[in-house]
Parts: sequence; structure tokens; C-alpha cells
Amino acid sequence: MASSAVAPLPRPPKQLRILVASSEAHPLIKTGGLADVAASLPIALRALGEDARLVLPGYPAAMRQLRNPQPRGALVLAGYRRPIGLIQGLHPETELPIYLIDAPEYFAREGNPYSDPTGRDWGDNADRFMLFCRALVLLARGQGPIDWQPDVFHGNDWQTGLAPWLLNDGAGLPARVFTIHNLAYQGLFDRATFDRLRLPPAAWSISGLEFHQRLSFIKGGILCSERVNTVSPTYADEVRTPRFGCGLDGLLRKLGGRFCGILNGIDDRVWNPASDPLIAQNYDAERLVLKVENKLAVQRALGLPRHEEALVLGYIGRLVEQKGVDLILAILPELLKDPLLQVLILAAGEPHLEQALLDLAAAHSRQLGVFIGYDERLAHQIEAGCDAFLMPSRFEPCGLNQLYSLRYGTPPIVHRTGGLADTVIPATDEHLRAGRATGFVFNEPRPEALFAAIDQARRLYRTDPPAWRRLILTGMAQDFSWTQSAQRYLRLYHEALADRLSPASDP
Ligand code: ADP
Ligand code: GLC
Repeated sequence: MASSAVAPLPRPPKQLRILVASSEAHPLIKTGGLADVAASLPIALRALGEDARLVLPGYPAAMRQLRNPQPRGALVLAGYRRPIGLIQGLHPETELPIYLIDAPEYFAREGNPYSDPTGRDWGDNADRFMLFCRALVLLARGQGPIDWQPDVFHGNDWQTGLAPWLLNDGAGLPARVFTIHNLAYQGLFDRATFDRLRLPPAAWSISGLEFHQRLSFIKGGILCSERVNTVSPTYADEVRTPRFGCGLDGLLRKLGGRFCGILNGIDDRVWNPASDPLIAQNYDAERLVLKVENKLAVQRALGLPRHEEALVLGYIGRLVEQKGVDLILAILPELLKDPLLQVLILAAGEPHLEQALLDLAAAHSRQLGVFIGYDERLAHQIEAGCDAFLMPSRFEPCGLNQLYSLRYGTPPIVHRTGGLADTVIPATDEHLRAGRATGFVFNEPRPEALFAAIDQARRLYRTDPPAWRRLILTGMAQDFSWTQSAQRYLRLYHEALADRLSPASDP
């Protein structure tokens, strides 16, 4: 039995070789926070001296942006008619080595990695990510066309989930770490798909990949990795309860000490108001007065009157149930009765939410600016230009936008859940007096609660400018750099290695 004392980790014989696998990575291809993490974690690990490398599907956008791409030869996968290529290159702005799995039949599609231009999941997603997992397995076993085998295989989210499962048998295999960025996405497919993927029939069982009569990709990662984590301590607690566990809470509870939460960090190269090339005016804590230039610029960018005195609230994100945009929609008509308040929204997702936002914007053209679509530059401009940032997510595994808004001096207004609860210090009287507060937090995901939190922010902004300024500066001073989180991952890798080498010591 493991004792509560933390056992010293075996000294690594050498620099660790870590293969990070993801279905997206910034700036090659991005739909959300996973992309930011998948790029910045291996970059941070390399800065700590480890040999981390990244592997992604070879989407056209990724192929175009890879620096110095070199075809490395074929990956020979049983059962696939056409040869699969491996391209090696570098991250566009750093020395991070990146491998792309070149399988045009599966990945040479423009746009979103998961869905077609109408927003529907690609019908062959199971086949696409099965192929990705099989390619990952070859690389992890050191059987690819490169002279490099990882000590640790680090999978992320369901698209990589079957790789740890396929890496279960055999000698000389890497230790496996699996990160859940969002348990609501599990990669579930029907029985016919399971049969088509040529998985062993025995895998169709409760103790295998079956989940309520469906094939679950994510279960493979959870069941077969030496260490599993999610992206904040609070979300790690939440997913072990039926309310947030999406049916997998029991399995996660069973992992005991093999499961934990590690907060994401911020990539300072990309998200830093002092050097951000995408914003109108750079600033930092010492030059905070300059921030207002960004407010005027973003008001103009979204077609609103330039108004220095207005309290400007921002929102950026996917329009899905998780993000609680319906709560914002519910209170907007009341909120916009305040002529000195503006709201800026950059979002894309469910068509009915897009339409509802556009309709409201048409009715409030001087106060509500809505841009439907994905726009990296505008995202930076909103973070820099708004006075406060809305994040009423029903659940949030970590959340990056509240971290960016803290960094940009744009206090977040958040629901107390997951990573939002772990990263925003509420503006209670006590925290304000002590100079600890960084944002506004409400307890229940209901419109009235969001409204009350916005109202609290509005009052502080208008009646106590010194307190507001202190709130901003405290937020800007928070350290969410990747260094700390990367060190935590490193520890996890060592624990996973120790377990892989002596499986008997598993809890
Ligand atoms: P999630 O991964 O659940 O979408 P996060 O807060 O972790 O949420 O990360 C979202 C990331 O995606 C942030 O970097 C955010 O700026 C970006 N993002 C989301 N929607 C858009 C959009 N419409 N345009 C530009 N960037 C966006
Ligand atoms: C997921 C989560 C988000 C998290 C991101 C990166 O998309 O929804 O909360 O920040 O992954 O880990």
C-alpha cells in the first residue's frame, strides 16, 4: 500500500524523452484551449531541459505552417491500404520538434479538425482518430521511421485515448500519462464502428472500452495509463462526483492517487500585454494608463461608439452549453438598460445562440458588439480592451481566457467551478481590504447570480477607482507561467515511469 509520505523519485538516468500527442496545437491548428496547452507544455518542458516533442494529425493548416518540414518515411500500419507518411519539422516560432501524421485520406480537409463546414462531426471521426492512435503507437514503440523512442507517452483527450490502450502489452514500452481537458467529450461510437475498427472483440466489455453500449475512446486513456490528470484541482474533484463525472466518476474514483489535477499555464510569448503584437497599444502594470487605447480600438473594431467612460465587458468562446452563454443572453436586455455599459462578444458555435446574439446586437447597435467566427487578433484585442471579462461557464476544466484576462488587467467575472474557482480570488470585502482580490465570483450558474456579480463589478468600477486599480494590479501580478505546471507534469511523468517499471507497486 502506498504510504501518505511522498516517496523520493528515482533519478532519471538521462534527459526524459516525452512524446506529447494532441489533435490540435497553436498556432498550427486551434479550436480551443487544448491547442494552447498542447504547444506550450512541451515548449516549457524543453525549457526545463527535457526532450519533449509533439505529434499531430497532418491537417493542411498544420502542413502549411510547419517550419522546415522533412518527410521521414512511411509508417507501416497493418490493415491500411495507402501508406501513411511521417513529416518532421519545427514549431513556427520555437525549436519544438513536431511530427505530423500524413494521411491525406483522413486529414487533408480544410477547416475544423472535428467537423465539416456545416458544423456536423465528420462521419469518419472514429476512423480518423483510430488511425492517429495506431500511428502514435508505432512512434511510442520506437517502430516508426525515426531513431527516437519516448520514455513517456503523453496523450490528450479522447482523440488519443486508444493509444495508451493499444500500448498495454509488450516490453520496452513508454510510461503513459493521459490528460483529460474536458470529460464531456468522450469519443463515443456505436457497435458497428467498434467492429469496423478491428478492435479485439474482448475489448467490448464493461472493464474494457465499452461504455453504455458504445465504444469509448476516452476510457482507453483512463484505464490504461499509469497516471491520469485533468487541468485543475477543483475539476479533478468535481469529475469524481456524479454531477460532473459524465458517467465516468466511478472509474475516476477508482484511480485513487493515480489521478490528479494540474492547472494550465499561460504562454508568455503569446499572451503578454507588454509585447503582444496583435493589440493596438502595449502596456504593463507600470504603464496601465495606456490600456485605454485598446478600449477605444476594440470599440471601433466591433462598430461601437468610442466611449472611454463606458464599462466594457468582454466574452470570447465556443457557443456551447458548457460556457453558459445563455446566462449572458438572459440578462443582456436588462444589462443594456445602462447606457454607460457595453458588451463585446467574439464567439462561434451553436447556430441558435449565434442568431440570438446577432438579433440582440442589431437591437442594441451602440452597446452590443458581436463578431461570430474565429479571430485570433480580435481575441487579443478584447482581452486587452475590455474592463472586465465574462466567464459564466457551467463547468470549466481549467479555462484559459480568465487567465489571459487576469494577465491583461481585465478582471474576470466567473462562476465558481473547476479552474475558474482555482484561479480567481473573489472580491469579497475581506479580500479587497487585504489586496488579494482578482475578480468576481458567483456560486450558482443562474442569470440572477451572474447579474449580481456584474453589478458588484460595476459598482466597484464606478465608485472606487483606487480599489478597482488594485484589483487589476493584483490580477496582473498572479503567476500563471507554465514553468510551475510543467514541473508538476514532470513529476507525474516520473511517477508514471516508476509505476511502469514496477507495476506491482500500483495502488
Ligand atoms: P475551451 O478550450 O473550453 O474552449 P479555454 O478558455 O480553455 O476554453 O480556451 C479557449 C481558447 O480559444 C482561448 O485561447 C480563446 O481565446 C480561444 N477562442 C475561443 N473562441 C474563440 C474565437 N471565436 N476566436 C478566437 N479565439 C477563440
Ligand atoms: C478544454 C476545457 C478548458 C481547458 C482547455 C485546455 O477545452 O474546456 O477548460 O482550459 O481544455 O486544458
